Amino acid sequence: MPSGVPDPHLFVVFGGTGDLMQRKLLPVLYRLRASGRLPAGSLVLGVARRPMNDTAFRTLAEKALAETKAGSPEDIASFCNSTLFYQSTPDASSSSFAALKQRIESVERDHGLTGNRIFYLALPLGAFAPTISGLGESGLHQAPGWVRLVIEKPFGRDLASAQQLNRLLHRYFEEKQVFRIDHYLGKETVQNLLVFRFANMFIESLWNRDHIDHVTITVAESLGVEGRGQYYESSGALRDMVQNHVTQLLTLIAMEPPATRDEDSIRNEKVKVLQSIVRLSEGDVVRGQYVAGTSDGAPVVSYREEPGIDPRSDTETFVALRLKIANWRWQDVPFFLRTGKRLPAKMTRVILTFKAPPVSFFQTASEYHSNPDRISILIQPDEGFELAFEVKVPGREMRVETHRMRFQYADAFGELPDGYETLLVDVMLGDPTLFVRADEVEESWRLYDPLLRSPPPLAFYPAGTWGPEVAQKLALDWGQRWYYSA
Ligand code: BG6
Repeated sequence: MPSGVPDPHLFVVFGGTGDLMQRKLLPVLYRLRASGRLPAGSLVLGVARRPMNDTAFRTLAEKALAETKAGSPEDIASFCNSTLFYQSTPDASSSSFAALKQRIESVERDHGLTGNRIFYLALPLGAFAPTISGLGESGLHQAPGWVRLVIEKPFGRDLASAQQLNRLLHRYFEEKQVFRIDHYLGKETVQNLLVFRFANMFIESLWNRDHIDHVTITVAESLGVEGRGQYYESSGALRDMVQNHVTQLLTLIAMEPPATRDEDSIRNEKVKVLQSIVRLSEGDVVRGQYVAGTSDGAPVVSYREEPGIDPRSDTETFVALRLKIANWRWQDVPFFLRTGKRLPAKMTRVILTFKAPPVSFFQTASEYHSNPDRISILIQPDEGFELAFEVKVPGREMRVETHRMRFQYADAFGELPDGYETLLVDVMLGDPTLFVRADEVEESWRLYDPLLRSPPPLAFYPAGTWGPEVAQKLALDWGQRWYYSA
């Protein structure tokens, strides 16, 4: 696992004028430079279709950085003028890539860079293949120094397209050069799942089918599609959230201890979880779509009335599913996964509910009579974890009540770093542990492919509620209930 200071390099962003660059990448690069973590001499080259010179690009970047309040106007201007360059690449033709290659080489030569390059594909899915081919055919995949390629999600639309994309990537790049981003893996609380489990003996010794009754993973959002209608219509919650972020949480919760902390040991264990999941059938999944309702007390329109959405759209904005993992640790333990837009709150939580004691002596005042003991892992917001357990209520009567013990990151460490910052530094260092490996992304598509091919019918829910009522049935059928709030 590489560590230390990254080598100076040229950071080339395809999609250099896009939303991700302006909202995330530029502020992170700015902060890395300001804190001395962007190696001295490293430069950024934005690449996009729009014709523009370096000066116009720097003005655009200054505006974006000012909006994110990244720093003082003087510091922002100095960062932009000393670090940013721009190359317009009107299409993926060989002449455009030849011009790009020349520009890269001249920027490197003029500024004493030795040819280490990161290509960051902050592009829509349809633009990945032509860009990868353009890089390969122009010879840009080879350089005097190291070359790394970062690819945003969605990585494909289904198993076949993900396999095709992997084949294309591997024509020009070795797997260790490819960094498939899932920004959930950059979150401190997600990385902490491994520490929580494997550095705490008492936790890990209970983390199995002998003690755990069921597991729920909720990734809830209160926002709607936020002007991303066109993208979301072709994606939906299954592709946008379940196949990647929710599944990553699942694998980290369920995996076996890795042999070592290196990238392949960890990713091997995650792949094994995916391979052990019992094939999903239509009855295991509820697809929902929001109709008009409220968000933070204000009325909001239905999904079908959002800008850019087909008024008869069949796209799901909510998915609930149940699954089982057929291995020694988890056989017969239900896992319930749920994600959606326009739910009552933004909240990502994993709850492990323990089995009830075999004999119940006490009258409980608990809301959850049969199995009150729970570990709640609060991924965001209010990052931390809680342990809910039974306590005797003082008095002559033997009554018990559920109480919670809580750890909060904010109390112990203050503000947490942005996940993108962590991931970008890892790319610069060449550490792929927190990125998704080719076989891992394919296994995850394999799991959901049958649902994509014949999607279950939509159920509707009012914005501001916890999804269609029928989702509750998924859990009740298996003798459990969702914990809507923890
Ligand atoms: C993105 C999805 O990957 O993750 C968005 O495309 C979603 O639809 C976002 O809103 C959620 O990320 P976070 O970090 O805010 O939970």
